Amino acid sequence: MFESIQAAPPDAILGLNEVFRNDPRPGKINLTVGVYKDESGLTPILDCVKEAERRLVAKETSKGYLPIDGDPDYCRLTAELNFGAGHEVLESGRAATAQAPGGTGALRVAGDFLTSTGAARTIWCSVPTWPNHPKVFEASGLQVKNYAYFDADRHGVNLDGMLAAIREMPAGDVICLHACCHNPTGADPSPADWKLIADAVYDRGLMPLLDFAYLGFGTGIDEDAVALREFARPGAELIVASSCSKNFGLYRERVGSLTVVTKDVDTAQAVASQVRTAVRVNYSNPPSHGGAIVRTVLGDAELRSQWERELAAMRDRINGIRKVFTQKMSERLPDANFSFIEKQIGMFSFSGLTPEQVDRLKVEHAVYAVRSGRINVAGIMPSNVDALCDAIAAVSS
Ligand code: LMR
Repeated sequence: MFESIQAAPPDAILGLNEVFRNDPRPGKINLTVGVYKDESGLTPILDCVKEAERRLVAKETSKGYLPIDGDPDYCRLTAELNFGAGHEVLESGRAATAQAPGGTGALRVAGDFLTSTGAARTIWCSVPTWPNHPKVFEASGLQVKNYAYFDADRHGVNLDGMLAAIREMPAGDVICLHACCHNPTGADPSPADWKLIADAVYDRGLMPLLDFAYLGFGTGIDEDAVALREFARPGAELIVASSCSKNFGLYRERVGSLTVVTKDVDTAQAVASQVRTAVRVNYSNPPSHGGAIVRTVLGDAELRSQWERELAAMRDRINGIRKVFTQKMSERLPDANFSFIEKQIGMFSFSGLTPEQVDRLKVEHAVYAVRSGRINVAGIMPSNVDALCDAIAAVSS
């Protein structure tokens, strides 16, 4: 039965990470997968997470199943984090939230929900986007189309191109938007731009699906939620897939959530039942541990402020190393302009390196980046920034 099966191509991001792991060269540099690293190269477990785990182990009395849509307290607390406590869409009961296994799990449940209910057939993704977006949506049976997003010459958002594309999309289609810290470019619309984008999306009768994987990694918790809150207008419908992988450092615990905002309470209840159906046939119900950690941290004033401090420290380190990298590149290549790296936000930057230059970085310098030129800025440290800048200068000349 299996003899004729061909090997699948390695994943563009996680596959590269495996190749990196097996590279024996000392001093190798990993700028591939979007995982935070501290100055010593460690992906730390946050202190607030450790403390929450201690409390959970002491108190946990059962490993029975969670409800199909997860822990209600986790769902309430993450929705409040995303929308802001007391937000009308939460108070009115017109939003349905389900705990999901990571942001990717939330995206897949969203896709399955859209196709199984017949709510939508087509989703539009930015060019470029996270390479897994089209694959997840296609696996759900959605047709994937693309819209202009990035202006490579200016290293920023092509707002006019994006708005023009939105105005051509058929009503009833879904548009996938990166709510903050665009992956892979690190270039976000401004708050004023988001208002124009939301106007265009709703004028056109589109359904926004906001992928919200990097809350707190851009400018701050409330600042990074600006796009989501712009879309959460009175009476508006939207879908939010959020992740706690990065901002709580809970990558392997697979914890995220899906919120569908509808017109009214009755619709929200019907939608919630369809989301539960999509979950049940997929993984039955979510894993508990990561969600229990997030619920414990967000539900305790002291742990929550500790988390906010630890999140700010991760954000500040990335923003600090962006400055150092930009400065060191300008010393090595005075005629090249790398200042955009300092202006972009979140974990990633689109470096402008060509696929051939990325290949040379890997082969000649043991520097690993995604072939699109995306670099994980959180992989740059004081101990490797000089070697990295030397390598980029070498392949740029
Ligand atoms: C990334 O883009 O590197 C992260 O979102 C991790 C992943 O699953 O690809």
